[in-house]
Amino acid sequence: MDTVVERISHSDSDEQIYERASKILRSGGLVAFPTETVYGLGADALDKDASAKIYAAKGRPSDNPLIVHIADKKALYELSSDVNEWALKAAEVFWPGPLTMILKKKDIVPDSITGGLPTVAVRMPSHPVAARLIKKSGVYIAAPSANISGKPSPTKAEHVIHDMNGRIDMIIADDTVDIGVESTIIDLSGSVPVILRPGYITWQQLADVFGEVEVDPAVTGSVADGIVPKAPGMKYKHYSPDAKVVIVMGETGRVADKINELTAQRHEEGASVGVMAVSENVGMYNADMVVDMGSRCDEAEAAKKLFSALRSFDDKRIEYVYSESFPTDNVGQAVMNRLIKAAGHTIIKV
Ligand code: TXA
Ligand code: MG
Repeated sequence: MDTVVERISHSDSDEQIYERASKILRSGGLVAFPTETVYGLGADALDKDASAKIYAAKGRPSDNPLIVHIADKKALYELSSDVNEWALKAAEVFWPGPLTMILKKKDIVPDSITGGLPTVAVRMPSHPVAARLIKKSGVYIAAPSANISGKPSPTKAEHVIHDMNGRIDMIIADDTVDIGVESTIIDLSGSVPVILRPGYITWQQLADVFGEVEVDPAVTGSVADGIVPKAPGMKYKHYSPDAKVVIVMGETGRVADKINELTAQRHEEGASVGVMAVSENVGMYNADMVVDMGSRCDEAEAAKKLFSALRSFDDKRIEYVYSESFPTDNVGQAVMNRLIKAAGHTIIKV
């Protein structure tokens, strides 16, 4: 399949890109597009055959459900049989934006996009390209992140092209993806709101709105310890570059010593080594490649850089990646959640 790549120019000529993309979506094709979190790989959510193509293009397990992207709140009532007070409140405070809600689904939502679950994930993105595409096409867009299953989510058009060229109909390129980690997922279908995946919207922000908010144990625990996540996607190996990723945690000087010791060992074996470190520490390392993740105090910068950094090691054929850990007061929580998955829970504490 030939994949058309169209770049948004932020001028009147963009209209034809939206028209072309809309036509593809309405006829059951696949279009990748930017959102404020990461790039999504979209299809008409109510067309079973179209969404089946998403699973094929990504190599995604069929029990891993998709998020349905909408452009106005009315859509909630068409997709969910129980738009409760929490959902209305969350929509009012956080939409459009990086929050996905899990609600009881209506029959119109095909089981094939919910992995057979009785619930549906819904999000109203704030990114202008995503919002305009949903409106223009007139369809609800089912969209997972636009990466090959298991790889880091794409935050730049080049990542999407790398993973999806030849597999989908069209890529809308616009490198204005701002946040860099996927949306926060909150389950509002039960007796108490539960965070299933941390993201840009923090536990504190949600607690301010809902009062009581729980966190699914799988957010911090490991599947290896027998914890089954409520978001099926959270159980899979994820965000992994080809390199083996290890996180080293502890006091700065000791972390640097440990990483340099491990680097020396790997070099002796003839292997290549990459390091992920905060700006303040990059000078401490003598690896083959050191990625600057931004200042220690800048969690948003680390979020923006994370997936791109993980992918950059593959470009340089790095075999081992040692990463510092990053602060987790705000979006850093999502950063560490993704990094720990990328490391397959391999953490060295010093
Ligand atoms: O920011 C985002 O959320 C991006 C952009 C494109 O919107 N999308 C995204 O989709 O990250 P994806 O497919 O990579 O992650 C969706 C997650 C998966 O972990 C999936 O298991 C979970 O949402 N999910 C979807 N529907 C669910 C449901 N009904 N119940 C529980 N978890 C659900
Ligand atoms: Mg994903």
